[in-house]
Amino acid sequence: MAEPLTVLVTGATGTTGSRVAARLRALGHTVRAASRRAGAGGDLVGFDWYDPDTHAAALRGADRVYLVPPVAEPEPAAVMGPFLERARAAGVTRAVLLGSSAIEAGGPGVGQVHRLLADGGPFEEWAVLRPSWFMQNFTGDHLHAAGIRGDGVLTTATGTGRVGFVDADDIAAVAARALTDPVAPGPDLVVTGPEALTYTEVAAVVTRVTGRAVRHRSVSPGALVAQLTGLGMPAAFAELLAALDDGISRGAEDRVTDTVERVTGTPPRTFAEMYRRHHASSRPTPTAPPR
Ligand SMILES: NC(=O)c1ccc[n+]([C@@H]2O[C@H](COP(=O)([O-])OP(=O)(O)OC[C@H]3O[C@@H](n4cnc5c(N)ncnc54)[C@H](OP(=O)(O)O)[C@@H]3O)[C@@H](O)[C@H]2O)c1
Repeated sequence: MAEPLTVLVTGATGTTGSRVAARLRALGHTVRAASRRAGAGGDLVGFDWYDPDTHAAALRGADRVYLVPPVAEPEPAAVMGPFLERARAAGVTRAVLLGSSAIEAGGPGVGQVHRLLADGGPFEEWAVLRPSWFMQNFTGDHLHAAGIRGDGVLTTATGTGRVGFVDADDIAAVAARALTDPVAPGPDLVVTGPEALTYTEVAAVVTRVTGRAVRHRSVSPGALVAQLTGLGMPAAFAELLAALDDGISRGAEDRVTDTVERVTGTPPRTFAEMYRRHHASSRPTPTAPPR
């Protein structure tokens, strides 16, 4: 391995950040795993996007930074811009931003952070990962996972639109390379899985793997907003999700890229592979019968 690096990983308790941190550690790099929940005795460093007093300590010794924007912030550039300047001044030479396939440089939200990095930003070396929808939306605490466990219904406004669902492990593998390769790949990396699937096809895979009937129910964007707000989601966020689903129904996410294999040398996992592994690891281990 080349010289070990010190990488500040923001969102280190989240879906991609936790995987990025684990990979970097396995490669022998030093990780500063940032979280608002850092407490005594843990290996997390205290960090809050909205508390600049936490930034200098989190950045101590960092050469590179993985950036997960503050969740649900409509204007992340306003929050992240000053931090990026501080990071450069503290000695960080490369930044890798987690964006979204749905948002290009200059687009709303994270698109403005992308623009900051691209247009004479503080770093000569940078990359933006723009993943499609995560396969992990069907596991853990996500709404679709709850739908699978509950009434066996995946409700979307995507119709027959396809999505290049991507495994968060593959996103993390690309991020680790983007953070540590001698030359950063990219800089604009749309990251997808190996196939674009409809939600009906996803439901069929889940049915096959679990043995429980799961189906896709496609509703209008308005009906989806009503359902999500009924579950307590803020209206603006529900409207954003419904608009993204509407885009999917029109083909916005119907693409696959070669980014994972090109950057990491390993092909991305299929949804069926990811979901089988998830299902096998989340089933209770059978115990030996009493003698
Ligand atoms: N889900 C998808 O299908 C999908 C697809 C494309 C792109 N994305 C993008 O992925 C991003 C989410 O990334 P993820 O899934 O890796 O994260 P995540 O699992 O949603 O976790 C969010 C992380 O952000 C941290 N965080 C939240 N507020 C913070 C604050 N004020 N200061 C510091 N840290 C804060 C949390 O850490 P603590 O709570 O420990 O502080 C947590 O580690 C979003 O920007 C989304 O747009 C998602």
